[in-house]
This record gives sequence, C-alpha cells and structure tokens, in this order.
Amino acid sequence: MKIAVFVSGSGTNLQVLIDKLHLDKNVDIEIAVVISDRKKAYALERAKKAGIPGIYINVKRFPNREAFDAEIDRVLEEYGVELVVLAGYMKVFQTPFVRKYYGRLINIHPALLPSFPGTDGVGDTLKYGVKVGGVTIHFVDEGVDTGPIIAQAAVPVFYDDDKESLHTRIQKHEHTLYPEVVKMYQEGRLEIVGRKVRIKAGKPESRKARKPESQTKT
Ligand code: GRF
Repeated sequence: MKIAVFVSGSGTNLQVLIDKLHLDKNVDIEIAVVISDRKKAYALERAKKAGIPGIYINVKRFPNREAFDAEIDRVLEEYGVELVVLAGYMKVFQTPFVRKYYGRLINIHPALLPSFPGTDGVGDTLKYGVKVGGVTIHFVDEGVDTGPIIAQAAVPVFYDDDKESLHTRIQKHEHTLYPEVVKMYQEGRLEIVGRKVRIKAGKPESRKARKPESQTKT
C-alpha cells in the first residue's frame, strides 16, 4: 500500500513511519512521497536520506487554497497514494479535498481531543491545568481536529512541565501509536461507523501455524 506523509517541521513521526513501516520488508507499506508546505522542514531531509521523494509545495504559487489542494491531489494521484498521513502538517484542507479523501486521510494531534484542538494542543493542555494530556489519531473531516477518533493515549501532566517536557512525553506515545494505526489501516481493520471507529481484531499470533516444540524436533 502506498502512502503519502505530510509534514511541516522536524518529522520525528515521519522518521518512525520510515523505520517501522517503510523499511520493514515484512510490512506492505511504502511511503511513496513526502509533501511539505515548508521548504526548510527538516522532515524533507529525512525523506531524502531514506530515498523517498520529498516535495515542497509553496502555497503562495496558487491563487487560492482550492488550487493549492488541487495540486496536492494531482501529486497524490501521480504517486498512486491510497492513504494520506498528516504528521505535523500545519495547513488545513478545503472541503472538496477532505470529501474526496474522507476515510483515507488521518491526522495526529498532541492532545486528548475533543479538548484542545488547533495549532497549540500542547500549550493549551498546559495552560488549562489539566492533569492528563495525550495524543489523538483521527480521521480528518471538514472541521479542525474534529473527525472520528481512531486511537488515543493518555499521558500525565506534571506541575513543573513546560511545553518541551510535555511534548517529549507525548511524542513517545505518538511514535508507538502512529505506525500501529497506519498498519491497522493497511490490514483493513478500521471502519468508520458514524462518529465512531471500529477496530477489527487482527490475526492472532497463534494463527501463524507455529508448530509445537514436540513436532519440530527430529
Ligand atoms: C506532533 O506532535 C503532532 O502531534 C503534531 O505535530 C507534531 C509533529 O512532530 N500534529 P514531528 O514533526 O513529527 O516531530
């Protein structure tokens, strides 16, 4: 399955998707293209190092956001992308794009949605004084961080936390959860049912037809 990863910044999530999925020969997931709205995003370097095409698309080249989205759509078609994975991408898609990709467009957000949507999930978590923050992975709908939730993980928020310490704690969970969710999608295990996402059971390890010790010994 070919996926595209969208980035704007450092790309630590992209890196784990490269390491745990793209480079794993036992996993049928290829990052066909990385798309950035920022020329200097370090994530583009990461793509280059992994030999993955990295494309910077400058929003200013387009008369409006619909035209920008249309160019993105053209690139996705060109690379045969099935799933679009947003990983720190800071632009919001317009309605026609979201409708076309609904169900195969996912995002990761560094807060426990529906609390603290928007561009500063970590800062808003801290400012509110909640004791539990976290990460949310969701399908993208026409709102900002409002789509059906696929997976969440909670992390404690400590009194002395600053944005960096809390974000670091959150990212540890992001780096485990995001590859798992992309793999679940590839295995056809995610089903949107209204606002909810059903996660179907995966193949149990036991079904791998492992022979009992006694039968393998000669
Ligand atoms: C992540 O914390 C993600 O939740 C948010 O943007 C951040 C991207 O981090 N949407 P990175 O570029 O993957 O390191």
